[in-house]
Amino acid sequence: MKTPKRVQPLVDEGLIDEVLRQLMSGKEATVYVVRCGEEIRCAKVYKEASQRSFKQAISYQEGRKVKNSRQARAMEKGTRYGRKMQEEVWQNAEVDALYRLAAAGVRVPRPYICFEGVLLMDLVTDAGGNAAPRLNDVVLTEALALDYHAQLLKQVVLMLCAGVIHGDLSEYNILVDEHGPVIIDLPQAVDAAGNTSAEMMLERDVANLANYFSQFAPQLASSQYGKEIWKLYVAGLLQPDSILTGRVKLDHRPADVGAVMREMEIARREAEDERSRFQQHGI
Ligand SMILES: Nc1ncnc2c1ncn2[C@@H]1O[C@H](COP(=O)(O)OP(=O)(O)OP(=O)(O)O)[C@@H](O)[C@H]1O
Ligand SMILES: [Mg+2]
Repeated sequence: MKTPKRVQPLVDEGLIDEVLRQLMSGKEATVYVVRCGEEIRCAKVYKEASQRSFKQAISYQEGRKVKNSRQARAMEKGTRYGRKMQEEVWQNAEVDALYRLAAAGVRVPRPYICFEGVLLMDLVTDAGGNAAPRLNDVVLTEALALDYHAQLLKQVVLMLCAGVIHGDLSEYNILVDEHGPVIIDLPQAVDAAGNTSAEMMLERDVANLANYFSQFAPQLASSQYGKEIWKLYVAGLLQPDSILTGRVKLDHRPADVGAVMREMEIARREAEDERSRFQQHGI
């Protein structure tokens, strides 16, 4: 097909030899099948900021690193330079997450580069070499649903061990290749340690999986994998091979109010000592 204008810079740079066809036009991006030498790959062209939707909400941006404080200030103020920076941070977020996750052994498409707002990555294919279907287009038996659910939980755990939460995980952002589920669509990926909504987002991602698969395997509907995974993560106990049960124990022990009061008293005295030392000696 004729090379779309936005893909032309990658053709000029020799990163892409030919655009074969358009695969999908989603809410956030248009995806093309391209040829790079002998390889068939996939080019995701991000839409302009004004055409994008919820994923750029503030809660996703929190904890993202920019190169320096001048850029951070410009982004906060929303100057033209700031908006350009924000756009770059956004466009690079997906390729960064893909590199991090591929290195951690998560099943994601292998990334190559993000250039001029176009992400070049492996095309996920089915056994016949065609673009892989999305999970929501695949009919599952109960056994296969349980198997895919378990595989995906393992991926979510691997991601969290690498410090990343997908943030928009659903049957629409999972492809199925001949070996099982592959996770895609990560520009909104969240930094688990630096984002105050991290717990909520992890639980929502995991609940989306349970909800979806429970139509084939109803026993998943009451599982609590999200809470269980998060509990292990904050306790520093989450490992790629952590064994999950889907149940969390409620803590019925009464709170030790006396111990809390004692801690508060110690903190109060320390602050008082410091204040009087400062008044007496100026240190
Ligand atoms: N690496 C890939 N291999 C095969 N197909 C892909 C790949 N990346 C994206 N696709 C296809 O393109 C579609 C859109 O991709 P993606 O979800 O990343 O973009 P999006 O615009 O954010 O989508 P949406 O807003 O609809 O979720 C996917 O549902 C999938 O069918
Ligand atoms: Mg998507």
